[in-house]
Amino acid sequence: MQLLSRSSWNRFPIPFVGLVIVLLVSLASHTSSSTEQEKSSLLQFLAGLSRDGGLTVSWRHNTDYCTWKGITCNQDRKVTDVLLASQGLEGFISPFLGNLTGLLHLNLSRNSLSGGLPLKLVSSSSILVIDVSFNRLTGGLSELPSSTPPRPLQVLNISSNLFTGRFPSTIWEVMKSLVSLNASTNSFTGQIPTTPCVSAPSFAVLELSFNQLSGNIPQGLSNCSVLKLLSVGYNNLSGYLPDELFNVSSLEHLSLHSNWLEGDLNGISKLINLVTLDLGGNEFIGNIPESIGDLKKLQELHLDHNNMSGELPTALSNCTNLVTIDLKSNHFSGKLTKVNFISLPNLKKLIFFSTTSPAQFQKAYTPAAS
Ligand SMILES: *[C@@H]1O[C@H](CO)[C@@H](O)[C@H](O)[C@H]1NC(C)=O
Ligand SMILES: *[C@@H]1O[C@H](CO)[C@@H](O)[C@H](O)[C@H]1NC(C)=O
Ligand SMILES: *[C@@H]1O[C@H](CO)[C@@H](O)[C@H](O)[C@H]1NC(C)=O
Ligand SMILES: *[C@@H]1O[C@H](CO)[C@@H](O)[C@H](O)[C@H]1NC(C)=O
Ligand SMILES: *[C@@H]1O[C@H](CO)[C@@H](O)[C@H](O)[C@H]1NC(C)=O
Ligand SMILES: *[C@@H]1O[C@H](CO)[C@@H](O)[C@H](O)[C@H]1NC(C)=O
Ligand SMILES: *[C@@H]1O[C@H](CO)[C@@H](O)[C@H](O)[C@H]1NC(C)=O
Ligand SMILES: *[C@@H]1O[C@H](CO)[C@@H](O)[C@H](O)[C@H]1NC(C)=O
Ligand SMILES: *[C@@H]1O[C@H](CO)[C@@H](O)[C@H](O)[C@H]1NC(C)=O
Repeated sequence: MQLLSRSSWNRFPIPFVGLVIVLLVSLASHTSSSTEQEKSSLLQFLAGLSRDGGLTVSWRHNTDYCTWKGITCNQDRKVTDVLLASQGLEGFISPFLGNLTGLLHLNLSRNSLSGGLPLKLVSSSSILVIDVSFNRLTGGLSELPSSTPPRPLQVLNISSNLFTGRFPSTIWEVMKSLVSLNASTNSFTGQIPTTPCVSAPSFAVLELSFNQLSGNIPQGLSNCSVLKLLSVGYNNLSGYLPDELFNVSSLEHLSLHSNWLEGDLNGISKLINLVTLDLGGNEFIGNIPESIGDLKKLQELHLDHNNMSGELPTALSNCTNLVTIDLKSNHFSGKLTKVNFISLPNLKKLIFFSTTSPAQFQKAYTPAAS
């Protein structure tokens, strides 16, 4: 309106002014109907809760939903964030949340929500982050129709729930922006997804520990060129560590504790960015290679409860960032004096007892004055 001075406004014929008014009115009613939908979607979510943790005090019909507890809107009054972690919520997660077309962040962590995770949320065309960890959600993740266009989801944390079933392979095909999947502490079965990174080039975090996954560590992980964390401990994995895994040099945290994995550590020195190496509770054999000295960033080394043997390599002295070395329940032998522990200033825990007796160990290693 500011653009039209009074005189120029007068020059327009009546039908044109009428058209402008009609456009303005329809624009306004479109806006109000879409904000109506935002509000009613939130109220539908509320209706799905059997315990709302006092949310109704804030979420009142006659108030502005953009001011409701846990809700953030953008300039267009579209809901962008629903952040309701630790609110004592019970009941189910309404699929109506999927009608919030501007929703970016959904955090319902640490409640007591049950039922399934609506597919409409996982396959939303707007949501970037979903965190529903620490609830009592059940069921599985559904396959998505292959025609589904790429989805923007970057972070999916469904850990510490009661999910079962296999990982749908189609999820990987449409989640091209996925960066982090945390599905630890559930009851997922089947195999580790074989090719998570072919379609999601930014994939960096795969946390699947404490499930019931079986099968091998897939070779396809070698296509994960920015994978930083692979955590699949406390599952039922078996077979050899594939050589391809040693090519994922971006890896910083590799945790495979308590499976049935076999092999040796001869390729490990290629993983030069490792900070955590946890292969405890498996069936690894062989010695710790001298090349372990190449892992300059290593802080946590857990090789306990395997069938490893031989002497500790002198080169271990070169891993100067080590904080923990846990080697118990193996068949290591020889003198500990080969390793210059004085050069490991951060070392806090050195757990070694199994074949070596404590007395023998203490003779060889006198900790640096601290
Ligand atoms: C909102 O979501 C529900 C549940 O998914 C669906 O049945 C309904 O058609 C949607 N309403 C609108 C207006 O999109
Ligand atoms: C969700 O909220 C909890 C509690 O505030 C927080 O610890 C967690 O990091 C949040 N999740 C994400 C993905 O930001
Ligand atoms: C869930 O996982 C995401 C990404 O891995 C993380 O940012 C978030 O903090 C986790 N949530 C909780 C409650 O720990
Ligand atoms: C996965 O989620 C759990 C919460 O259930 C959290 O403690 C853990 O830090 C998360 N792991 C990663 C790698 O984000
Ligand atoms: C890596 O991805 C390419 C396709 O992008 C595929 O041809 C190749 O087989 C994959 N490698 C593995 C080990 O799966
Ligand atoms: C573990 O995997 C083996 C095959 O590798 C299978 O025979 C066994 O049933 C699995 N156990 C569980 C508890 O899934
Ligand atoms: C690892 O990478 C090197 C060079 O990038 C390549 O020559 C080799 O074939 C790869 N090995 C495996 C097992 O993928
Ligand atoms: C441990 O390794 C030795 C060879 O170093 C082998 O003879 C033995 O059978 C292995 N034990 C187990 C339980 O795998
Ligand atoms: C430790 O590192 C230094 C410098 O990188 C190297 O010269 C030396 O050979 C390494 N020592 C061992 C035992 O690998």
